Amino acid sequence: PNRRRLVIGNWKMHGTQAGNATLLDGLRSGASMADDRDVAVCVPFPYIPQASTLLQGSGITWGAQDVSMHAQGAYTGEVSAAMLADFACKLVLVGHSERRSMHGESDKLVADKAVAALGAGITPVICVGETLEEQQAGQTKDIIARQLAPVLALGAQKLAHVVLAYEPVWAIGTGLSATPEQAQEVHAFIRDRLAGQGSAHVRILYGGSVKPDNAASLFAMPDIDGALVGGASLKAQDFLHIAAAA
Ligand code: G3H
Repeated sequence: PNRRRLVIGNWKMHGTQAGNATLLDGLRSGASMADDRDVAVCVPFPYIPQASTLLQGSGITWGAQDVSMHAQGAYTGEVSAAMLADFACKLVLVGHSERRSMHGESDKLVADKAVAALGAGITPVICVGETLEEQQAGQTKDIIARQLAPVLALGAQKLAHVVLAYEPVWAIGTGLSATPEQAQEVHAFIRDRLAGQGSAHVRILYGGSVKPDNAASLFAMPDIDGALVGGASLKAQDFLHIAAAA
């Protein structure tokens, strides 16, 4: 399968202009690896212009962590896909578990946000994943199937331009990554669903405590096409190490 590897850093709600400058300079210096894989960072909204200035020409791309489903209008506090495109964002996370759980985002809303991103020429990185309780109840595949349903319904033409990220909630920020075999089992399940829509070539990233020392074993799995990295993306060296393993 010819799926180009992709490693994305999700800074979440971290950063200052001064700290970012150091981090982005560090990324720039290691950016040559972006020749044979895709490398990107998703930064807080106010820092998108800074990322675009400091990453311009580096091969590393930038994007946001959320987007409105609406095109424009009276939506106080929202940011549209067109605004992201205006700052040359190439990608945007949608449906991260922190947005699903803390901001009540539904499966349908997440798919609507993906459509909004696609409409502006931005790649939506659609996140799915089960909680610890759901995993322990043996519901992982049911939950993933439910989260995927409105996404799969978008059809092959739209699916061709999305990226999926499997992030088991119990592995996020806990230091407890899924094992490569555990992740592969879910990735294969997702791949199978995508194949049913003629979209087996869609990239599926793994996220959840990806670190320099476990990245290579995750990337060795046949259906893991890269990573969505939280904590370890805040240190240039760690993030570049993970990207180099992809
Ligand atoms: O989007 C990134 C994920 O939530 C993973 O975060 O690498 O800190 O576990 P983490």
